[in-house]
Amino acid sequence: EKGGYEHFMIKEIYEQPKAVRETMTSRVAKDNSGITFEELNWTKDDVSPIKKIAIIACGTAYHAGIVGKYLIENLSRIPVEVDVASEFRYRSPLIDEQTLAIVISQSGETLDTLAALKEAKKLGARTLAVTNVVGSSIARDSDQVIYTWAGPEIAVASTKAYTTQLVVMAMLAIYMGAIKGTLTTDKVQALCQALRELPAQAYEVLEDVEPIKTFAQQYGFNEDVFFIGRSLDYAVALEGSLKLKEISYIHAEAYAAGELKHGTLALIIEGVPVIALATQQDVYEKTLSNIKEVKARDAVVIGLGLKGDQQLEKYVDHTIFIPATNKFLTPILSVIPLQLLAYYAAVTRGCDVDKPRNLAKSVTVE
Ligand code: M6R
Repeated sequence: EKGGYEHFMIKEIYEQPKAVRETMTSRVAKDNSGITFEELNWTKDDVSPIKKIAIIACGTAYHAGIVGKYLIENLSRIPVEVDVASEFRYRSPLIDEQTLAIVISQSGETLDTLAALKEAKKLGARTLAVTNVVGSSIARDSDQVIYTWAGPEIAVASTKAYTTQLVVMAMLAIYMGAIKGTLTTDKVQALCQALRELPAQAYEVLEDVEPIKTFAQQYGFNEDVFFIGRSLDYAVALEGSLKLKEISYIHAEAYAAGELKHGTLALIIEGVPVIALATQQDVYEKTLSNIKEVKARDAVVIGLGLKGDQQLEKYVDHTIFIPATNKFLTPILSVIPLQLLAYYAAVTRGCDVDKPRNLAKSVTVE
């Protein structure tokens, strides 16, 4: 059932090109003219009344929501707030009929997310579920559903569910942007084209595993690791850090690179591994200065950048490169090396990769 792989997690990591492709099938037009969601079938009358979007989820799905906020706000110009489900319910959220609540959940059974969905409904919001399990409680309770076609995810650590959730977030942002008119036809085309190139690019990232294995073996016994990045790189840093903690039990923290000086820099001392994501061109120079800050404290920096970047290796100790894509889609590729790093670190440390201690695949208690 593991198809020749040692663990479900690594099998699922390698299934990502296929999962990403299947999630786009029949949604991204072959001629790149736009996105269709037959299950939504929205028109201007459905999208225009949305004054605010509330994204609600837990764990990895929450991290997909953070990327979703960035994409929807940029491409469809609708304000988005993102909440951890267990917080949302207890903060008297400002939700009404003009709010679209999007709940993201791989399993569709996470109790906090389900309860938050019910709360949003009670407050009058329209609801949309993004889930991987057909007929799950969350799918049944939402007004509308978009399925991620990732196939069953068995490992506790979520991998292909995350990348397919990101694909859905991107498609939804383009879809609403096209309907609202915040995106030009050219932009829609470019984004569709870039989306369709992702499966092959994800495959390319997976081919380049050897250096990552080496880093995992080299740094797998450090007790603290930091992930830094700005904008979308920060969102992916959060996910990379969760993955590492969850399965390798290494203490990892993700920091918005510009926030280091406000406290965390005190923890950066000689030999501490820092994984610096530098894929976002509009904040690239700023990220480089943050890399210099940690290098000046003798951290060991692994830089994650875009192929063709000639500068990065001058400032870091090691590099990982991923193929360049549209900046809004980069997280779908940049997370893959971080999943692999977590996986090989856990293997190096002899951890129970698919069933990490204290955790369950589906959290059906509060
Ligand atoms: O099934 P869900 O997407 O609702 O699950 C949410 C979280 O429990 C889940 O993403 C968790 O954080 C993963 N184990 C992380 O790898």
